[in-house]
Amino acid sequence: MSIEQSGTFPLGDCRVKRLGFGAMQLAGPGVFGPPKDTQAALAVLREAVAAGVDHIDTSDFYGPHVTNRLIREALAPYSDDLVIVTKIGARRGADASWNPAFSAAELTAAVHDNLRNLGLDVLPVVNLRCMFSAHGPAEGSIEAPLTVLAGLQRQGLVRHVGLSNATPAQVAEGRRICPIVCVQNQYNLAHRGDDALIDDLARDGIAYVPFFPLGGFSPLQSDALSAVAGRLGATPMQVALAWLLQRSPNILLIPGTSSVAHLRENLAAADLAVDADSIRMLDTIGATQAAAGGERP
Ligand SMILES: NC(=O)c1ccc[n+]([C@@H]2O[C@H](COP(=O)([O-])OP(=O)(O)OC[C@H]3O[C@@H](n4cnc5c(N)ncnc54)[C@H](OP(=O)(O)O)[C@@H]3O)[C@@H](O)[C@H]2O)c1
Repeated sequence: MSIEQSGTFPLGDCRVKRLGFGAMQLAGPGVFGPPKDTQAALAVLREAVAAGVDHIDTSDFYGPHVTNRLIREALAPYSDDLVIVTKIGARRGADASWNPAFSAAELTAAVHDNLRNLGLDVLPVVNLRCMFSAHGPAEGSIEAPLTVLAGLQRQGLVRHVGLSNATPAQVAEGRRICPIVCVQNQYNLAHRGDDALIDDLARDGIAYVPFFPLGGFSPLQSDALSAVAGRLGATPMQVALAWLLQRSPNILLIPGTSSVAHLRENLAAADLAVDADSIRMLDTIGATQAAAGGERP
């Protein structure tokens, strides 16, 4: 198994392998507090890097602070090729709630929190996480918060800027304010509202990083997915990831797991080829969801 098989794609001037790792699942239940087993969480991070992962997604609001501190404990001093991508724009309440944190003071503090807890002098990529609705992307101007982030970039604290949970209009607005190297939105076999956006970004050389690539807190389950997995001699999760890799060359994967066994299984998706008949079967999953009204327009 070699994750090189999946190829690479640029995040600004950082080129990363297309199979990376999302660290959110390493925090405690509900992404709040410490993990049940800290040593197991550290082992997942070390195994990811040992297997060749050079792109880790995180945020200081996971825990809060928990996943960043785990990453630092497991992996610092970092190898030169490791690209840690973080996000700002939210804060956690004492009740584990997720709240917008878009003021200049909050955004600036979030960049410094990420720098301190990760042990970095410069954050390689920071995504502005849009928080206009609790239910997914929603319209609203990002000019003010993105201008703050672009200012932090000019100060040298942030190398590259991305957007998360953003609508196509917000992506267009953002690109008028500063270079955007990636967009991180919810997208997977069953949730395909960003199909057109992915193709537009691919044409412009911008990475698209689907969050919940495996379905998130309720991993994907479908008869079509199981049938294709059976045909290909792979697991459903591997098929879901291999389908994303084949969907578009600008897709970078950050599947999350708290288990070394699942991590190895997921990284092995780099070697899996999904034939055209299987793709047709898998495309029915997204079409069924859209027909059931499960997609935003
Ligand atoms: N920008 C945003 O708003 C946003 C939102 C959510 C997430 N994210 C980022 O995206 C990353 C990916 O999302 P995610 O981790 O929430 O969801 P995900 O990758 O779609 O799925 C993670 C879930 O799948 C399970 N899983 C993973 N591999 C498996 C396997 N091989 N077999 C069976 N179950 C498996 C995990 O449980 P186990 O731990 O038991 O493996 C976990 O419950 C996150 O880690 C985070 O960095 C960003």
